[in-house]
Amino acid sequence: MKRIFSGVQPSGNLTIGNYLGAIKQFVQLQHEAEALYCVVDLHALTVPQDPDELRKRSREIARIYLACGVDPQKATIFLQSHVKEHAELGWLLQCATYMGELSRMTQFKDKSSGKSAVHVGLFTYPVLMAADILLYDTTHVPVGEDQKQHIELTRDIAERFNHRYGEVFVIPEAEIQAFGARIMALDDPSKKMSKSAESEASRIAILEPVDVFRKKIMRAVTDTDNEIRFDPERKPGISNLLTIYSLFADEPVESLVERYAGQGYGTLKKDLVEVMSEKLGAIQRRYEQWNDEAELDRILARGAEKARSLAEQTLNRVKDAMGLVRFS
Ligand code: TYM
Repeated sequence: MKRIFSGVQPSGNLTIGNYLGAIKQFVQLQHEAEALYCVVDLHALTVPQDPDELRKRSREIARIYLACGVDPQKATIFLQSHVKEHAELGWLLQCATYMGELSRMTQFKDKSSGKSAVHVGLFTYPVLMAADILLYDTTHVPVGEDQKQHIELTRDIAERFNHRYGEVFVIPEAEIQAFGARIMALDDPSKKMSKSAESEASRIAILEPVDVFRKKIMRAVTDTDNEIRFDPERKPGISNLLTIYSLFADEPVESLVERYAGQGYGTLKKDLVEVMSEKLGAIQRRYEQWNDEAELDRILARGAEKARSLAEQTLNRVKDAMGLVRFS
């Protein structure tokens, strides 16, 4: 049976990278299989957070899931900290993971480089992520390209665990789109668009008004030859814009390249603003409609209850396998 699990950190304003690389897939996949979508608030704590801001952001992410089209009747939406089994399995898996494995994680290297004080949680972050995934017997994990290494580690941990203790875990697979899994920064197409990057001009938030993002698109870095061609190696800027356009318009890149041949970057950028304004505008209107916090909290509470009932069973299997005493 196919089971989907994925999560987003409440660590900044969600960008169109998060939407195109992950959340758009969440919406499609909820129709194909049982799906759980988590707001990974415990992961956000691996770097300093303002408590009020974190509380606000955590609900905001759940509301963005709903606004983007995740249906709470179909998919389970919940906050990671509401299901204590995540932290518990996280610990058990820390005792089944090697320091060397975690030292190789590029995200840890990037996030810790140049910092004098790094919390242990940032180092063990991928183990908690493995726990998130393995708790639900997940078969598929829709994510962007940057999470691939973490999913590979999850598979390694699970395979080793099964080898040592018997068939306890389902081995999950990353579901990474062939196209759009790595949306690049608008002001520097050699870098990934990130919600935590310093430069505001690098990204567009899902909830950003058109008047703000228009300027960012119009000023997006491209090359000087003005030729519209999809070539991420040699023309990363325009290829990134074509990718974004293609995914928002649900139109193949080839057809865009044909349509804009000989027209220059300005026209394409202007049209892209229109397409995005329509799609993001619809999401933003739905976001405004989901303004009943009590209703949102009811969805999250129901989601946590459902998630807990699944997580509990896996955790018991793990405890039995590892030799912890359990009273039945
Ligand atoms: P996070 O919160 O950084 O990002 C959420 C999702 O968005 C994808 N993404 C992108 N996709 C395409 N282009 C981009 N520029 C881009 N930026 C971000 C990410 O790949 C991700 O899918 N560790 C995870 C959260 C997590 C998780 C999990 C995910 C915790 N536990 C279990 C899946 C399963 C993270 O930090 O994602």
